[in-house]
Amino acid sequence: MSAIEIAVLPVGGMGTRFLPATKSVAKELLPVVDRPLLQYAVDEARAAGIEQFVLITARGKASLADYFDVAGELVQTLAERGKTQELEVLAAAQLPPGAVMTVRQQQPLGLGHAVWCARNIVGRRPFAVLLPDELLWDPAAPCLKQMVEAHARLGGNLVATMEVPAEETHRYGIVSPGRSDGLITEVRGLVEKPAPGTAPSRLAVVGRYILEPEVMDELGKGRRGAGGEIQLTDAMAELIGRQPFHALTFTGKRFDCGDKSGHVIANVALALERPDIGPAVRAWLAANPA
Ligand code: G1P
Repeated sequence: MSAIEIAVLPVGGMGTRFLPATKSVAKELLPVVDRPLLQYAVDEARAAGIEQFVLITARGKASLADYFDVAGELVQTLAERGKTQELEVLAAAQLPPGAVMTVRQQQPLGLGHAVWCARNIVGRRPFAVLLPDELLWDPAAPCLKQMVEAHARLGGNLVATMEVPAEETHRYGIVSPGRSDGLITEVRGLVEKPAPGTAPSRLAVVGRYILEPEVMDELGKGRRGAGGEIQLTDAMAELIGRQPFHALTFTGKRFDCGDKSGHVIANVALALERPDIGPAVRAWLAANPA
């Protein structure tokens, strides 16, 4: 099916922006409407044909592995009560046995270090990385599915990008672009969180990657970058010129759910799309203009 079999999901962050909720709930389990953020990322990867998932967790985040377990008592109770709709919701979210593997990132040394923690499971295969904070929404053409299809043609490394306002480029990995062909742009360079006014473009990396295994070798060198952290962007930059490297511009909706306002907006936007609750939310918004 897909040439990309495995996805790495870095989910070790403390979620300080969502305190106090994240004292006891992992931020990746915060819902957008009724599905945890992590489930959106997993479903996007499944839509791309990926069937193996590596969660890079951390101390205090065992609930993330629990989430993918079969909730036996719950299933039994729902079955006894004839709650077929709820059982279908659970079944749709359930991954088969052995699909989820977890690795602890023992120290918070950066996104690059988190990805490197998956090296023994990934092996020498190309792999996907999804940052679940970024909810990329296009049910007709999920971002990672587009990337897997592009990777089948182009090979090498791929990042998803979107244009951001010039005053926000310092918050992202930014692409130095080469030639473009439709939604595909050649990547000539990559810089992590460039100082304001120094970004080579407004094309920001938005949390979806397909990477060749050589990136693990670069990450293994442990070089520190922006913020003193081991940056995925820096390891990827080392591969430019050695392997094909492209950006795919995502044209769907993007919600930065690592940010409170982004998370609230995602809830409103996705609620409005839902036939069950959309009308009520729309009516409230109409009756309560800002
Ligand atoms: C990370 C990456 C950055 C990317 C961003 C997308 O940064 O390091 O290159 O643009 O995710 O959300 P973070 O948001 O973890 O600081």
